[in-house]
Amino acid sequence: MPILYNDSTREFHLQTEKTSYIIKILENNQLGQLYYGKKLRHRESFQRLFHVEATPNTACVNEGDLVFSLDLVKQEYPAYGTTDFRSPAYQLLQEDGSRITNFVYQDHQIFSGKKKLMGLPATYAESEDEATTLEVSLYDEVIDVEIRLSYTVFEKLNAITRSAQFINQGQAAVNLTMALSASIDLPDADFEMVQLSGSWARERHIKSRKLVPGIQSIASTRGTSSAQQNPFLALKRPSTTEHQGEVYGVSLVYSGNFLAQVEVDHYNVTRLMTGINPFDFNWLLENGDSFQTPEVVMVYSAEGLNDMSQTFHRLYRTRLARGHWRDRERPVLINNWEATYFDFDEQKIFELAQSSKALGVELFVLDDGWFGKRDDDTTSLGDWFEDKRKLPSGITQLAKDITDLGMEFGLWFEPEMVSKVSELYKTHPDWVIHVSNRQMSHGRNQLVLDFSRQDVVDYIYNLMAEVLRDAPISYVKWDMNRYMTEVGSLELPANRQREVAHRYILGVYSLYERLTTKFPHVLFESCAGGGSRFDPGLLHYAPQGWTSDDTDAVERLKIQYGTSLVYPLSSMGAHVSAVPNHQVGRKTSLETRANVAYFGAFGYELDVTMMTDAEKEEVKTQIAFYKENRSLIQQGQFYRITSPFAEDGNITSWMVVSDDQAEAIIGYYQVLSQPNPGLMRIFFKGLNPEFEYAIDGIDETFYGDELMSAGLQVNRYRINEHPADFSSAVYKVTRV
Ligand code: DGJ
Repeated sequence: MPILYNDSTREFHLQTEKTSYIIKILENNQLGQLYYGKKLRHRESFQRLFHVEATPNTACVNEGDLVFSLDLVKQEYPAYGTTDFRSPAYQLLQEDGSRITNFVYQDHQIFSGKKKLMGLPATYAESEDEATTLEVSLYDEVIDVEIRLSYTVFEKLNAITRSAQFINQGQAAVNLTMALSASIDLPDADFEMVQLSGSWARERHIKSRKLVPGIQSIASTRGTSSAQQNPFLALKRPSTTEHQGEVYGVSLVYSGNFLAQVEVDHYNVTRLMTGINPFDFNWLLENGDSFQTPEVVMVYSAEGLNDMSQTFHRLYRTRLARGHWRDRERPVLINNWEATYFDFDEQKIFELAQSSKALGVELFVLDDGWFGKRDDDTTSLGDWFEDKRKLPSGITQLAKDITDLGMEFGLWFEPEMVSKVSELYKTHPDWVIHVSNRQMSHGRNQLVLDFSRQDVVDYIYNLMAEVLRDAPISYVKWDMNRYMTEVGSLELPANRQREVAHRYILGVYSLYERLTTKFPHVLFESCAGGGSRFDPGLLHYAPQGWTSDDTDAVERLKIQYGTSLVYPLSSMGAHVSAVPNHQVGRKTSLETRANVAYFGAFGYELDVTMMTDAEKEEVKTQIAFYKENRSLIQQGQFYRITSPFAEDGNITSWMVVSDDQAEAIIGYYQVLSQPNPGLMRIFFKGLNPEFEYAIDGIDETFYGDELMSAGLQVNRYRINEHPADFSSAVYKVTRV
């Protein structure tokens, strides 16, 4: 049983195959934390893991007792206001102005399976035996409010998820001024904090720093999870590497403003917490109301960052993503954006589709500019009707013509936005996120629709559903190109204005839910000006996301490597684009561009009609290679080998191995060519040491142990045959 309860000592022991998480009901009936880490054998009492002793200059709970102070105790879901002076996980502002609460253990239940999180994306179990859930109810009798903490153990997948629900049973209203999803107290501070940070076109770069006493955090206040920080944080030991050592990873299944924070206290206890950003947040809970926090996924590994990532990948690919496309091989697509931008017509699009079909492309995606009167980014968002000037036969006919070629057809939308110059804005100027007596800022000339309103979401649903119903569309790219400002909604009263940002995200989720339910065969790809909302929340609905607007092969090494810390290859849209690259001006070979893009959901984003015959032949070979190997790439185990974030960073290598270890593909990339380079070896990972392997293009065979321990001598095999900057090689490895 993955969740055990010791009645006499009032302890809960949550166990996955490799980890233990132990909670205790404390003497004051609040919840304490005893342990999180490598699996411990179960015993009747873990009391010895509980430690409290008299300390000077603190505050204590019980009269006459100078020992029991929450300042010293590791806690499960801490509050501020009594004897713990560290950051709390939640706070309730009451009608009399008090913020003091006392949530004590009321009861608990343990059951097989996992409940849904109402209105929020979350991991799920397909059958009851895949997961076990513990729900602990805490109750504050003064205000008659309950907190229900939920923990689900995915025993085989080695992950534990957490969330909290607040239920106001009292007559008086309370304000939830903060409601994080989880808090973890670790007994020392010898960690480095690893985060995924960046900006537009350089998303999810790996950054790390040594913990110091006090608070260190990452957050978003932009209305989306953001390109600046991803809702993920890991604590690793200073000696932990990709392949050995301890690491704790927490990943928030949420797409809006978040906080991930680490506080090192005066006794070197490390408090790691994450959830909705409490800054500019408040939720009014009236009698009978409840509030559900998003879910946090916690992964501990004693075997390095790569093992932590593989756990996230498995869980997110198979039990967070869902629907028709979850386990299916993703189509090779071509997107017209970088080929035409807004400047296209029916004929141009059809020619692109025809030429790409001849090369083996399976899905044609028509990007921005097909609707309203959109010749640039100043108009038409919200007017989801075809532009007859560009597409005189209409979108349905174009989709039919393209599907008649034997391809699938996909379409771009930006559902959450409106242009000031649009029919929608003319009719409903009140439908935007704004504050009525203040100037409205814009981003990319556009305004954000007020998705906290049901009528707005309904309107957009109906428009999109009509297009998806009428035309043979099997893919939607859902874009979102600006952050939120002047956050306010005309529909909500003054005391609910700080609910808008979260209500907005709930609106986005509800639209995704309705569209994916109504059109289950449509593959959704999320996008937000590239990867500004690449998070687990959207992965629940859209099994792939546009990783970045930066399509340069060299920049993509860092972006894809960083993204892989949490997200599986099947979720990362990766395209071969034109050179000089439109974002950085770099010229890389067609071979290197594909060698990088193979490690993702592969596609093209350039004008294939302009290619030479030789280039077309090369593209044909690339597409054939990807099709032959895509189930391995999209569903295999990913190993990071050499990091582009290393001090020199000139070499990146990574590989993907099939579950049965019979096949693997390794990518090796060199940024700048080196004069008279030394010997270079790749040390393979994840192979079976006993198996004998052949490598495409090499007339020798190798045992798995040789490739992993002695490595493959790269210079002899391809990479420096014709020295050049931005060179690369991809090796297919097959068991003989
Ligand atoms: C931003 C996206 O990331 C691009 O791929 C493209 O769809 C443009 N928006 C279109 O406006």
